[in-house]
Parts: sequence; structure tokens; C-alpha cells
Amino acid sequence: MLARVSKSLHPATLPQTAAKSLISQAGAVGGEPGNVVRGVPSRRGLSTSSSARPKAIITSPGQKRSVSALAQFGQKHVTKGLGRLTEAVFTKGEGSWVELDDGRRMLDFTTGIGVTNLGHCHPKVSKAAAEQCMNLVHGQCSIAFNEPYLRLVEKLLPLMPDPSLDSFFLWNSGSEAVEGAIKMARWYTGRQNIITMQGGYHGRTFGAMAVTRSKTIYSEGCHPLMPGVFPVAFPFWHQHGLPPSTSPEELSKLSLYQLDLVLTQQTNPKDVAAILIEPIIGEGGYVPAPPEYLKGLREVCDKHGILLIIDEVQSGFLRSGKFFAVEYSGVRPDIMVIAKGLANGFPLSGIVSRKEITDKLSPGSMGGTYAGNAVACAAGVAVADAMKEENIQDNVAARSKELFASLAELQKDSEVSSKVLDVRGKGLMVAVEFASPTGHPNDPFLDPSAPANLAKRVAKRCQEKGLFILTTSVYEVIRFIPPLNISKEDLAKGCQIFNEAVKEVVREG
Ligand SMILES: Cc1ncc(COP(=O)(O)O)c(C=O)c1O
Repeated sequence: MLARVSKSLHPATLPQTAAKSLISQAGAVGGEPGNVVRGVPSRRGLSTSSSARPKAIITSPGQKRSVSALAQFGQKHVTKGLGRLTEAVFTKGEGSWVELDDGRRMLDFTTGIGVTNLGHCHPKVSKAAAEQCMNLVHGQCSIAFNEPYLRLVEKLLPLMPDPSLDSFFLWNSGSEAVEGAIKMARWYTGRQNIITMQGGYHGRTFGAMAVTRSKTIYSEGCHPLMPGVFPVAFPFWHQHGLPPSTSPEELSKLSLYQLDLVLTQQTNPKDVAAILIEPIIGEGGYVPAPPEYLKGLREVCDKHGILLIIDEVQSGFLRSGKFFAVEYSGVRPDIMVIAKGLANGFPLSGIVSRKEITDKLSPGSMGGTYAGNAVACAAGVAVADAMKEENIQDNVAARSKELFASLAELQKDSEVSSKVLDVRGKGLMVAVEFASPTGHPNDPFLDPSAPANLAKRVAKRCQEKGLFILTTSVYEVIRFIPPLNISKEDLAKGCQIFNEAVKEVVREG
């Protein structure tokens, strides 16, 4: 068990203190103590009694019912555009576990979608952030450097998959970093078009949404999207109508052929600024790109002066077992995008490229109010240190073996084997795909005898048994993204819950 952070420094105490002071301020201007309306300034000053305003929103933190009352308030006042796995409220996170307002303590195999790779509230990371909070919160990168920013770049530089990646720009979210990478590629090459992968996910902002091709929900009702985006087939057996047993070499050949067709029939290579790819496609189904495919892309890029953008937002920081998943291929990215595990939950992303490329940028063309925030960077420095000190890479290797062994057992189980189509992934970025009775009638893998919605139902059953786990893609896929420092016991517990859930749901039909 990891040592706890001293109470006075624990960041969980900071928001509470801030919340208390907000509440007392609101109370002081007329709210009822313990049941106050938020002190939102109206045109006439702070008002707490307007009939147009929602009432009874924040109860005092000491009152038991306040969190569930808040959840109801959230259901009414937080956008319906957000989907959620649960309507319960997370009240605490520690390592591989989360606590909920309804009293449950659950194993968390979602890690906030591949973010809290060192577990919730890792003591070293939380302490570093809390200390930075008392030193400098916001310096603003267009005004001056902040020290943690520079220390983080110093830590990251030797971890890069290629020594040519020596120029950093830190931002907040993965989507922003993808947008910045596209902007840099267009600027540097003087070309417009971007080739992206069918099934690729790169975010929800306007440019990132345009290069996202994993599900229509992300761009539904928002067309036309940013022009100049050309999707190509990813080396995933589904996309070629081939069985899961198809070799990576065969899938790579077919996908490179499709790319060649795009470059001869749809966009001349001299109009292409970049090819954008996740080395393990995430929202597209947790499919690793075979090394020969990435090597093929590198050759095409070199031949035509196209930049290769590798999106390591989800697959980076040891998630795949290597620091960056692109290392499995030995391929050199021209631009690499990082986020998520970089700061273990503090909002931080980055674009890394060659100085030769970034030196061409005009000062002021990159920036952002919160870009490379000092607190997030301090957390990032602690993450890099903790990964080394705690031998996280060895833990990923050991736990990955155990996870694959447990899933192989499931695949062999006569009760469910015919319903498990595929087990795939790298490190602790692993997927199980189930058979499905629905889909396009020409899909060679439709299985009319398979129970409907297996992935969703299994995820729900896992939740009932105490495990949060996510689905992914347009197929029946469950993804495993547990913390990278998860213990043998906690991983075994999660695997046991998952295997039981699969058997129960398949039996129910
Ligand atoms: C591969 C990849 N790229 C980009 C993004 C977008 O990152 P963010 O949600 O931080 O904007 C994600 C988010 O899941 C991702 O998985």
C-alpha cells in the first residue's frame, strides 16, 4: 500500500476549503446557512433570492445528503451532451479504487480513460502538485517560463522514442495538441491535406473532430467538417472483412495498398501535409498497428515529404509496456502528441517535434492561457520520477502476462469460447471482442446466435459486482486500462469479476 500524503498538503483538502469559503461568502450575503444558493453575482450584485435561479443547491459539506442532492442538481443542470457510466458521484480515489457517494468502494479499470496510470491520488504526484499550488499556480507561457515546465521538458527529453524529438510545446488537452500538430504540419509543409485512419479518435474540438473517424456521434449534426481530411483503412481485420486470425503482415500489405489508392485517386501526395495515426487505435477497438505498417507509413512519408504524426495520447507513458507504443516499430515520428498519463489526472498535453520544424514557427503562433500550467507540470515531473523509482515498466510486463493468461482461460472455456472473437492489445491496453448478432448483413462475422449487446451488458454486470470497466468502438469490445501500478491481487480480483460477468451474461443469452 502506498504511503498517504500528509493531511495539510493533501489536495483533496484544498477544494473543500475553497468550497467552504465560497459557501460562507454566499451565506453572508443572504443565503440560508447549510442550504444556500450559489452566490452568483447578478447585475445588481450578489443575489441569492431571484426566483429565476435554482434553489437549495449547495448544502454544507458536513451534511450527509449534500452529495446526492448535488448529483440530482447535476442531472438537471449539466449538459445532456455528456454520457456517464454511473449516476453515482466519485467522492474519493486511492490507488486502483474509488469510493462513491452511495457507500460503494469499486475497483477502477477505467483510470479516467487511461489517465490515472499511477492510480488515483498517487502520493508523490499529489504532493508535488499541492506544493506547487503554494508556490506558483499560473505563470502563463507567453509571459514567462515556469520552472516545472522546464523541469518536465528536461525529464521527458531522454524518454522520447527518437532523439530527433527535441522541441516541446505543452498544452492542456489531447484535442488541443492534435489541433496544434495539424497546424504545425500545414504551416511547415505549406500543404493542406491530412490523411487519417478509419476508426481513429483524436478528440472533439473542431479540427480534432474532423480527423476522428471512430464513431459518427462525435460529428453528428456538425458538418461540413474541416476540409482536406482523407481517411484510409487501418490494419484491423474488421476493416478488410477478414478473420481475426489474419496475420499482421497481410493486414499491413492490404492497408498500405489502400493508402496507395488514396494517394493516386483522391489526393496527390504533394498536397498532403501529414499522416496521422494512433500506434494502438483506441476508440477504434484497441488494435495495435503492426510494426510493418508503421514502417510502410514512414517510407511513404519520406518519399513524398509528408510528416508522420503519432498520437500517443492514450498509448503513451508505459501504457503499452514501452514508454511510447511507437517504439515497438522503431519508427521515428516527425511530430508526437502526448497527454493523459503525462500528469496522472492534471490537465496537461504536449506536442513534441524536431527543432528544425518548430524553429520555422512564428513566435505567438502557438500559445494558450493555461498551456503548460505550473501545477500540472509539477505533477508531470513527479509522474516521470515515480515511473522510474517504482519500476512501473516491470509491473506492466508482469500484470500484462497475468491479464492475457486470464483472458486465454476465458477463451478456452467451452461455455463462452464461441462468443469471444478476439483478445488483443499490448501491455495494459488490452481488449476483448465478443461476437455480435447485429451489424451489416455482409459482415462475415455476424453471429445470429450471439447474445445482443454483449460488451455493454458485461460492463454493466461488472459494475454490479464492484468493477468499473469501459467498452470501446462500434464493435462489441471491452477495454482493459487498469492502473499501471496495479497489484497482482487487484488485477486478479478484476479478472475474476470480468470472467464471472461474461459467463453469466452469455448464459442469460
Ligand atoms: C488517441 C487520442 N487522441 C486524442 C484524444 C483527445 O484527448 P482529450 O480528450 O484530452 O482532448 C484522446 C482522448 O481520448 C485519445 O484517446
